[in-house]
Amino acid sequence: MPALPDSALRQLFTDARTHNAWRNQAVDEAVLHELYELVKWGPTAANTCPLRIVFVKSPDAKEKLRPCLSPGNVDKTMAAPVTAILAWDNTFYDQLPKLFPNNLDARNWYAGKDKAIYENAFRCSSLQAGYFILAARALGLDCGPMGGFNADKVNAAFFPDSAWRVNFLCNIGYGDPSGVFPRNPRLEFAEACRVD
Ligand SMILES: Cc1cc2nc3c(=O)[nH]c(=O)nc-3n(C[C@H](O)[C@H](O)[C@H](O)COP(=O)(O)O)c2cc1C
Repeated sequence: MPALPDSALRQLFTDARTHNAWRNQAVDEAVLHELYELVKWGPTAANTCPLRIVFVKSPDAKEKLRPCLSPGNVDKTMAAPVTAILAWDNTFYDQLPKLFPNNLDARNWYAGKDKAIYENAFRCSSLQAGYFILAARALGLDCGPMGGFNADKVNAAFFPDSAWRVNFLCNIGYGDPSGVFPRNPRLEFAEACRVD
């Protein structure tokens, strides 16, 4: 498999920024489907695929989200064309007969085991949420991920009768570069990696 061209690496990583302001351009629902059709192929443990997504798009749904947000995240979230609630499903293991048919015992690795459920759901939904950001960038969208919200309020407002639980939120749309904060440095290879 050849390496991606520099232009693609710039779009996904080196030039891509976290966005806080949005151009006045809607995100079509077809694009949200296109996005999920990429995200779903990223790997997860035993193909558990615990990520669940609510695309908060309508004004009513945005108003439901508003009281859940930290003050600094309110304006940019209300202005974003779409806010994704990146969640996990605490009953993800019920899908394993479909998702992992090569081992029909896989459901029992999790069912009734709260620690194993949480560890896998959090780990793999976080991975899938990372795939989500990169897939969005690959489709020409911009992202503004956010941990500043009240999880209990989001779960109560959006998942009152389900086993879905919020991991983090991510605004998506077409970013206005004027709202981007100055780029912060990253750790160098020698600070963050070891080759043993
Ligand atoms: C999981 C997660 C949670 C974040 N939470 C917030 C937040 O609540 N509010 C905010 O303004 N930015 C938030 N950020 C944005 C980060 O500060 C930003 O992505 C980081 O500084 C890198 O910025 P850059 O992509 O422009 O280099 C969050 C990012 C991630 C990935």
